[in-house]
Amino acid sequence: MIQFDHLKKSYGTGADAHEVLHDINLTIEDGEVFGFLGSSGAGKSTLVRTINLLERPTEGKVIIDGADVSHVSGRDLAELRTKIGMIFQDFNLFQQRTVLRNVTFPLELAHRPKAQRIERGRRLLRLVGLEGFEDRYPSQLSGGQQQRVAIARALANEPKIMLCDEATSALDSTTTVQILDLLRRINRELGVTLVIITHSLSVARNICDRVAMIDGGNIVEVGETAELFANPQSDILKALIASANEQNGRDEETVERAENEKKGR
Ligand SMILES: Nc1ncnc2c1ncn2[C@@H]1O[C@H](COP(=O)(O)OP(=O)(O)O)[C@@H](O)[C@H]1O
Ligand SMILES: [Mg+2]
Repeated sequence: MIQFDHLKKSYGTGADAHEVLHDINLTIEDGEVFGFLGSSGAGKSTLVRTINLLERPTEGKVIIDGADVSHVSGRDLAELRTKIGMIFQDFNLFQQRTVLRNVTFPLELAHRPKAQRIERGRRLLRLVGLEGFEDRYPSQLSGGQQQRVAIARALANEPKIMLCDEATSALDSTTTVQILDLLRRINRELGVTLVIITHSLSVARNICDRVAMIDGGNIVEVGETAELFANPQSDILKALIASANEQNGRDEETVERAENEKKGR
């Protein structure tokens, strides 16, 4: 379980200090797929990065499985981070390492014996559908394949939680659906709690059990995904849904026009 308790975050100090997260209170349950939805600059990344302490809260607490982790450091911090995997929009792979050695990197850090690293790395690559890609380099892979490598690497230490920061934002829509399917499978089969950051309504709708809408450093509403989207309360979510519907309408119109033109010829 992940809890944010009166969490605040400011960047800068003194006269330059500005608060970007204001009094966040929220609980994410074990095994959930939880989404943070919001536009650029809303504070999604900052909030999620407090879970593995890439950002420290300025006030309040992050509580994981009942323990306040806001101030952990040294060995305890390293231990905490092995329990939390993370993937990013731009994959963040090591370009000089093969696919297999990207996946086994966290196991090298943990001083696991080589045979065990290789065995586990191969098993993870099979899990993400990349058997046979062990000796390739990231530059030889598609975006979707690179994100699969990053997912396998994030799973190397058998984390309980995986943080996904705009993980599909650099991918086309078909590849996005494939990666979301893989993440769903990891949630169901391995029981990993997923924390999804996205600016995309369709990504949130596709994968999240619950969604928190974030705007200007506040959670403006939170609820079960279908319920929330069927009955939005905040102006920002209403506007997001309206603009998504408009875009769908435009896409349908474009297809219809193309079909009519084809018929006309
Ligand atoms: N390292 C930083 N230093 C100063 N300001 C930052 C830093 N990181 C983010 N911010 C600011 O905090 C706010 C929230 O940013 P961020 O969490 O990245 O939003 P999101 O992920 O929703 O796009 C923005 O105003 C951003 O400019
Ligand atoms: Mg962000």
